[in-house]
Amino acid sequence: MRSNHSATGASRHRAIAALLACAAAALIVPASPLQADEAQPFRLCADPTNLPFSSDSSSKPGFYVEIGQALAQALGRPIAYDWYKSYFGKRTVRVTLLGKQCDAMIGLPRSADFMGPAVIFSDVFAKEGYALVATKGAAVGGIDGLKGKRVAVQFASTPQNLLASRDDIQKVTVLSPEEGMQALDQGRADVAFIWGPVAGWLNKTSYGGRYQIELTEGEGLSWDAAIGFAKASTELRDRVNAVLPQLQGKIGELAVKYGLPGGAPVRFGAAPTPAPVTTGTGSGAGVAQVANVVATETKGDAVAPGLEAVGAGKEIFNGTCAHCHGPDAIQSERKIDLRLLRHRYGDEMREKYLTTVQEGRPNKGMPAWKEVYTEDQVNSIYSFLLTVQVESND
Ligand code: HEC
Repeated sequence: MRSNHSATGASRHRAIAALLACAAAALIVPASPLQADEAQPFRLCADPTNLPFSSDSSSKPGFYVEIGQALAQALGRPIAYDWYKSYFGKRTVRVTLLGKQCDAMIGLPRSADFMGPAVIFSDVFAKEGYALVATKGAAVGGIDGLKGKRVAVQFASTPQNLLASRDDIQKVTVLSPEEGMQALDQGRADVAFIWGPVAGWLNKTSYGGRYQIELTEGEGLSWDAAIGFAKASTELRDRVNAVLPQLQGKIGELAVKYGLPGGAPVRFGAAPTPAPVTTGTGSGAGVAQVANVVATETKGDAVAPGLEAVGAGKEIFNGTCAHCHGPDAIQSERKIDLRLLRHRYGDEMREKYLTTVQEGRPNKGMPAWKEVYTEDQVNSIYSFLLTVQVESND
């Protein structure tokens, strides 16, 4: 699940446009005299607000963006960016990469399950996964090391499922890796079992490196990160594979720069049940995190004529909102159960819905969507939510 440091300021998109222009000018370092076809920019899709992976800041552009820059240089091509919001989910990959708006997306999970065969992959350049975060010296070393501890797990994540059946481990449910780190910092949890790259980044940037971070490994816990291309781009993919080995040293340095956890991973058994948000993806919520896209979506729901809005709204909901609010809005945590909107707000339901969705509640983990979705789309989600209202969720 993507973290929720969200809300696009109104100014940001303008800033991005300006930045794109500078970035294109500043970051190009062609390696050799260019052939006509070589001068084509290497176009990278990246999220402007997703550190440690990517950002539109020129001083700290992120792990993936810097890999992209090194790659472009090795290919002797200038770099260009197509910034996208990863909240769009797999739709992002469809619209940007498969829509030919860019040539490559760095950090997709190398798995045929992930949008294969439409998407093809480079060789693996890094391993990413959930990690155990604890005070230095308190090495956890495996699931039994968590016995008797209070462990922060993100809602609907593989770690939450993995620990669900363990009565001897107390779970502290959080909605984001940021909140997991806070729980640790405020003494509400002894260990945070959260998305490693974000934990590493926060540890480095906000917590002065005071926590130790152990990478984990196991089904649904870790993934091989690769570069994704549209299936027609085999030639580019092969050229990228040819230069990747010479970039591994640089990639290792960048991993350190961005605080990504390294070292030998702690092995865990397979998760007993797939996370609820993983319907149809096969590899779990974390795939979304490697990809930095939300891997949830509904496919081919038959929609009766006249119910297009409901169907469209449901698709957006399941692709974007479901990873926090539950697939089809089914959610046991009352505070974020959107089936209770009418029960909660009565006649003011529509107004509350619109304000919350448009402005978000950034300090509570609800992103603002007004820059992401049109009014029609927001209304179609509302139409869908109207079909699922209940009086009580138990
Ligand atoms: C990153 C997680 C996340 C995502 C994604 C998300 N939300 Fe939320 N949403 C929240 C949280 C957390 C709250 C509760 C905030 C609070 O405590 O006031 C919330 C609250 C809401 C509320 C108000 C609920 C109430 O009873 O007051 C609405 C409406 C809502 N979200 C709609 C949506 C829609 C529609 C989408 C998709 C376009 C969406 N949310 C995506 C986290 C998320």
